[in-house]
Amino acid sequence: DASVYAHHTLREIMEQPEVVARALAPRPEIELAAGALRTAGRVFAVGAGTSYHAAMVARYAFAEVAGVDLQPVLASEHDLFLRWMDAGSVVLAISQSGETADVLEAVRAARAKGARIVSIVNVPHSTLERESDLSVNVRAGPEVGVAATKSFTAQLSTLFSMALEAAGRPPLDAERLRQLVTSALSSEGSARAAGERLRDATDVYIVGRGVHYPVALEGALKVKELAYVHAEGLAAGELKHGTLAMVEEGTPVVLVNPGDGTYVDTISNGEEMKARGAFVIGISERPNDLYDLHIPIPEARGLELPIVEVVPLQLLAYYVALARGAEIDRPRNLAKSVTVK
Ligand code: F6R
Repeated sequence: DASVYAHHTLREIMEQPEVVARALAPRPEIELAAGALRTAGRVFAVGAGTSYHAAMVARYAFAEVAGVDLQPVLASEHDLFLRWMDAGSVVLAISQSGETADVLEAVRAARAKGARIVSIVNVPHSTLERESDLSVNVRAGPEVGVAATKSFTAQLSTLFSMALEAAGRPPLDAERLRQLVTSALSSEGSARAAGERLRDATDVYIVGRGVHYPVALEGALKVKELAYVHAEGLAAGELKHGTLAMVEEGTPVVLVNPGDGTYVDTISNGEEMKARGAFVIGISERPNDLYDLHIPIPEARGLELPIVEVVPLQLLAYYVALARGAEIDRPRNLAKSVTVK
C-alpha cells in the first residue's frame, strides 16, 4: 500500500525491485536499439542531472560488455560534441520526463547533423519520444518525487539490456535483480543510522572508482537536492590531487566500495582520509575495520553493482533530509521537469 510511506520519494525508492525487473524485461525496442548500435559509427549518450549520471554509468557498461565507445554528453554542453556527429552517429537521449529543454535542444542539433536519435524515456508520449527515430520506455511508472530515484535504476537497467543485446550476450536476470535490490533495501536501518549521523554535516564526500564513480556523483546529487547538504562525488583516485586537503576531524566520507576489482584501491584511499580524521561510511558486502559505519549490500557482480549500490545512497540521502526536516518530495528551487534553458 503506497500510503504506508511518508513520502513519494521513499515509496519510489522502495518500488525499485519491481521497477528494475520490469525495465529488464525484453522488448522489441531494445532489440531495435541494439541493432542501431551494432552498425553505428560514433555513439553518444545525452542527458542532464541524474540522466547524465546514467549516461556516465553506461559508458563503463558499453565499454565492458559491448566494446562500444559511448561518449556521455551533458545536454547543456552538447555544442562541443556536434562537430563529431554525422549520419553514422547514434545519440542515446536519456530523459525521465522527455521534456528537458537542454536535451531537446541537443537532440534537434544532433538530428540536423544527420544522427539517429534513440530516446530512453519514462513519461510516455513526451516531446522527446515524439522527436526520436526510436524510443525505449524504461517503464519506471510515474515518478512524483522531484528527485529522480526509480527512474535512474530503470534507466540503468534499460541501458544495460541494450548493451548486452548489442553484444549478443544474455540479458541480466530480472528475477535475480529483483532479489538483489530487495536485499539492498533491507539495509534501510544502517542507511538511516548513517543519515542521522550526517544531520549536522556541512559537507559530505562520496567516492568510488570505475563504474562506482558516476554512482558516487549520483549519490552526491541526491544528498544535495534532498537534504541541502553540500556533497561532492569523486573518483577515489582524484582525492590526493586536491580534495584530500578538505578532510579534517569528523569529515564524513562515503566509500562506494563493493568487492570487485576496485575494492583494494578504494580501501587505501579511504585509509588516507581516515588518517586525517574522516568518519568513514562504507557501502560494501562485508564490514571492514576502516568503516566507522557499514551499510551492507548483497553479493552482486558486474553490471548488477551500480543498480544495487545506488539504493543505499538514495536511502542515505532520504534519511539525512528527514533528519533535517527538509521538504523531501519537492526540494526548494527545483522543478520536476526543466523546460527552460
Ligand atoms: C535529480 C533530478 C534532475 C533530473 C534532470 C534531468 O534528481 O531529478 O537532475 O535528472 O533535471 O531530467 P530528465 O531526466 O527528466 O531529463
